[in-house]
Amino acid sequence: MSRADSSPGFARRGPDLTCDGVSLSALAEQHGTPLFVYSAARIRSQLAAVRSAFAAVTHRVHYAVKANSNLSILQLLASEGAGFDIVSGGELERLDAAGVSAKDAVFAGVGKTEAEMRAALAADILLFNVESAGELELIEQVATAMGTVARVALRLNPDIDAGVHKHVTTGTGRNKFGVDLEEAARLVRRAQESTALDLCGYHVHLGSTLRSPEPYLASLDKLLEFLDQSLIHAGGIRYLDLGGGFGVPYRPDDPDLDLPALGSAVAERLEGRNLTVLLEPGRFLVAEAGCLLTRVQFVKRSRARRYAVVDAGMSELIRPCLYDAWHAIEPVATREGSPQEFDVVGPICESGDFLGLGRPLVAPQRGDLLAVLAAGAYGSSMSSNYNSRGRAAEVLVDGTRATIIRRREPIADLWRLELP
Ligand code: LLP
Repeated sequence: MSRADSSPGFARRGPDLTCDGVSLSALAEQHGTPLFVYSAARIRSQLAAVRSAFAAVTHRVHYAVKANSNLSILQLLASEGAGFDIVSGGELERLDAAGVSAKDAVFAGVGKTEAEMRAALAADILLFNVESAGELELIEQVATAMGTVARVALRLNPDIDAGVHKHVTTGTGRNKFGVDLEEAARLVRRAQESTALDLCGYHVHLGSTLRSPEPYLASLDKLLEFLDQSLIHAGGIRYLDLGGGFGVPYRPDDPDLDLPALGSAVAERLEGRNLTVLLEPGRFLVAEAGCLLTRVQFVKRSRARRYAVVDAGMSELIRPCLYDAWHAIEPVATREGSPQEFDVVGPICESGDFLGLGRPLVAPQRGDLLAVLAAGAYGSSMSSNYNSRGRAAEVLVDGTRATIIRRREPIADLWRLELP
């Protein structure tokens, strides 16, 4: 469980794991498994932690919708005053469906379509994070045709390796994201010539699961250097978007990202500059606020291994398979005895379908409930129907109230759009 035992979220009452005091076994009984359970209090406290770390800087928090795009979570964060970071027209439509304002949205992504640009301009989003020359031109054309001005921030690729898994690294010269600094200088001039573009900021996003402030500060330094060199346009620059990527301690011995230290170092560097910092945390706000409940179907032994076969797998949480990610797995009700190592595997027909390998469990039995912790980010939002499985249900615990915020997907919905 998280080391911050005083934080809201998942904690034991006697032998039983609860979400802010609400019994997880009761929720599993009522709603079935696999089931995602989220703590509203924990989402709020994570947001508060970001705000307090950056209190010395004028800043805005834009939640990265991709981490968990459930409408109720978007509403919760909007009601706490967060804006959003979106990467598709679909995410823009989600904001509308949740009834939250898109005016506080920033829009990144290397492949925005013309239709997405039109929709975002019509919704009057805060700004586009522009990732290429082609995109800048298309936004200009679309804005011109709509008789409006598009606010744009250039996404710079600072060529900094954040030292994270290769699939979540975005800020090196070998990644598809952003533009290198030479190209950026050219695009600044290009944007300046246009009456349909308001170049109002610069953006960097180095990747995800970062655990130290250094890469952020290195990229901020590059960004400021670039800003000072392109002084001619500095008047219009009001935003520095430092991206997201704040890591969380998935393993008990993972070093914490020292957010307060990052916040103070950013404040120091920006002193005397009239700039608003935009932050785009996704994982940090929701990962530890969520768990995935799953039931043991069978316990199985081979000559080499012991397996707990559970009813959730890579269709609910693909992170272990895709990024070698490690999530704590705990029994919902503890049992006395000495633990043995089990591979906790799902029902899907792939050897990559595991939630954790070699995990100590005390005599797991058919029907036992396990909780996969820190599963609130990139669990549900990356889930799939592979093997024709309906996606899991989701419950939000707020105080003593537990509300279902996504129904279990009916199997017949899986072929609703197919034309036999
Ligand atoms: N801003 C931009 C431009 C991004 O591309 C992302 C994530 C974020 C913010 C939020 O990053 P976060 O704070 O959540 O780390 N599926 C992977 C993570 C992929 C993140 C993609 N972009 C995972 O499960 O670890």
